Amino acid sequence: MNHSPELSPALLLETAIKAATTAGNHALANRHRKSETVLVSAHDVKLKLDLECQEIAWDIVRSDFPLHAILAEESADKGQPADNPHNSPYTWIIDPIDGTVNFTHGMPWWCCSIAVTQAEKTVAGAVFAPSTQELFTAFRGGPARCNGVPISVSGVKTMKEAMVLTGLDQKHTTQMPRLALFRDIADHVQKARVMGAAALDLCRVAAGECDGYFEAGIYTWDVAAAGLIVEMAGGITETLAEPAPHRLMVMATNGQFHSEFKTFLTTRLQL
Ligand code: IPD
Repeated sequence: MNHSPELSPALLLETAIKAATTAGNHALANRHRKSETVLVSAHDVKLKLDLECQEIAWDIVRSDFPLHAILAEESADKGQPADNPHNSPYTWIIDPIDGTVNFTHGMPWWCCSIAVTQAEKTVAGAVFAPSTQELFTAFRGGPARCNGVPISVSGVKTMKEAMVLTGLDQKHTTQMPRLALFRDIADHVQKARVMGAAALDLCRVAAGECDGYFEAGIYTWDVAAAGLIVEMAGGITETLAEPAPHRLMVMATNGQFHSEFKTFLTTRLQL
C-alpha cells in the first residue's frame, strides 16, 4: 500500500489493529521474559520486549504504508521527531508496551497502543490489552468499540460522583507537588485511582467504567490512540499543556463534568 492525500480512516484502522494485536500478543506469549531489561531507572524500566514489540509494529506499518512517518516510544523518548523521510502528512504513533512497570511485575494492566495522525490529529487508533484480550478501536467519525461492540462514556455529572484515573508524574512538571495534587483530586472525586497504563485508563473512560482521567506529565504515544477512542465514545480529551516535545498534560472526561474538572485543575496548576 502507498499513501495518497486522503486515505480512509477505516483502512488505516485495519493496519493499526494488525500492528497492536500482533505486537501485544508477542509480549503476552513472551511474558516469561518480563525481567529481561535494557535499562532500569528510578521508577521506570525498559525491556527487550519493548524493543521487539516496537519492531513488530513498525514493520507492519512500514509494509502497509512505506511512505508514512513513524513516531515510536523507544526511538523518540529523548525528544527526537518522527521518522519521516517522505514528508508524509500521516504519522503512525507506536507505544509497544504501555504500562511496562506493571508488565514486568506480572500485573495484567498493560497494553499496546497504535495511532495514526493526519495533520497532527489522530484519525484512527487501536489499543490492545493482551491479558484480557480486549481490543479498543476507533476511527474519526465512527463509533468507539471494544472487541467490535460499540462503547460509550458514563453519565456521571459531577466530580464528586466520579471515579478518576490518574498517574503520578515522575518528573515533577507542575507547580504543585504531585502527591499534594493527587490528594486534592482524591478529596474532590468519589475515588481517584493510579492504575499504571495511561492508554488503558483512557479506554476505561471510553467504556464508561470510570469517568475521568488526568496526568500532568504523559507522552504523546501513551494517549494518541486512546484519546480518540474517548472522543468517539462521546467524551472529551484535552491537552492542557505541552511542556516539552512529545510531553503532554492531558485530561479526559465523559464530557458531563469536563468544565468543572478543568477549572479545578487549571486553577490549582495556574495554567
Ligand atoms: C507510562 C504509563 C503510566 C504513566 C506514565 C507513562 P510506559 O507509560 O502510561 O501509566 O503514568 O507517565 O510513561 O512507560 O509504561 O509506556
